[in-house]
Amino acid sequence: MSIEDLADNARALVAAGKGILAIDESGPTIARRFADVGLPNSEANRRAYRELLITAPGLAGSISGVALSDETIRQSTSTGVPFARYLDDQGILAGIKVDKGSQPLAGCPGEVVTEGLDGLRQRLEEYRKLGARFAKWRAVIRIGEGIPTGTCIESNSHALARFAALAQEQGLVPMVEPEVLMEGDHDLDTSYEVHEVVLRSLFDALYQQNVMLDATLLKPSMVLPGSDGDDEAGVDEVAEATLTCIRSTVPAIVPGILFLSGGQDDERATAHLDAMNRMGPHPWVLSFSYGRALQSAALQVWAEDPASNAGKAQDAVIRRARANALAALGRWERARA
Ligand code: 13P
Repeated sequence: MSIEDLADNARALVAAGKGILAIDESGPTIARRFADVGLPNSEANRRAYRELLITAPGLAGSISGVALSDETIRQSTSTGVPFARYLDDQGILAGIKVDKGSQPLAGCPGEVVTEGLDGLRQRLEEYRKLGARFAKWRAVIRIGEGIPTGTCIESNSHALARFAALAQEQGLVPMVEPEVLMEGDHDLDTSYEVHEVVLRSLFDALYQQNVMLDATLLKPSMVLPGSDGDDEAGVDEVAEATLTCIRSTVPAIVPGILFLSGGQDDERATAHLDAMNRMGPHPWVLSFSYGRALQSAALQVWAEDPASNAGKAQDAVIRRARANALAALGRWERARA
């Protein structure tokens, strides 16, 4: 695939008023989400749940891409259509989470590094044949006493950049996800400082690894005060802090920034995105690549009665997708008024 085709796919993923639905939870994460709502964590349930999400009527109106996991990209609808082909038929690009999760970082107590580079070229090649057009790698940065360290930040940036170069080589748009966790009692300024250092380090590493930024998407966390602290920040304060941070770190050639929701209340995640877009224009598209903030209402209603609530769950995910699509245009608050 040429760089032009890769860049075209990157731009398609950030088409105006659309964003990404992340349903690429790892095995342990989906187990936790199902346990929280009392659903048995069977393969049949996981498949049925993902099927109802991707076949929700009208999804393509506000969703440009769906991120899948290794299990999910190999699954099919109940009528036998592979999920990736089903999405393609709707004009939605399929993506694949390719990292193998985080492990303790040796020599850095309390910190983690994401694994999965060994054999990645072959895995990417297979995922592309299975229909994936973009790939995702998540790094996790914790804020706490004396952390994050430079070692942790640089190790994760290096892995993200190695992943991005390999994804482009194999014809997949890399989505680089440095998530600074919200957990902790830090204030908004600390979150800002950590995000700034993390994003600077990431773009240095992408440059070092010859990654083409016009065919790369960034999936960052928002600059938020810690969820266990006393610092509270209003919607505009979070939007301003996040915007200032990305303006000072993310080159304008990056086509789009697709935020993760990271455990924020569903509506706050929408309000923050909406506020940032109202503060535009910006050099990049600012949109969403949400997991929980799109899915939690749908999962809750499906779990109440899986045999008969699939339609209600689909309505719930479409409602959240439409709200965030409006926020990606800065029109959500106005539409509610
Ligand atoms: P959340 O929006 O739930 O943070 O999930 C996004 C995601 O894909 C994490 O890798």
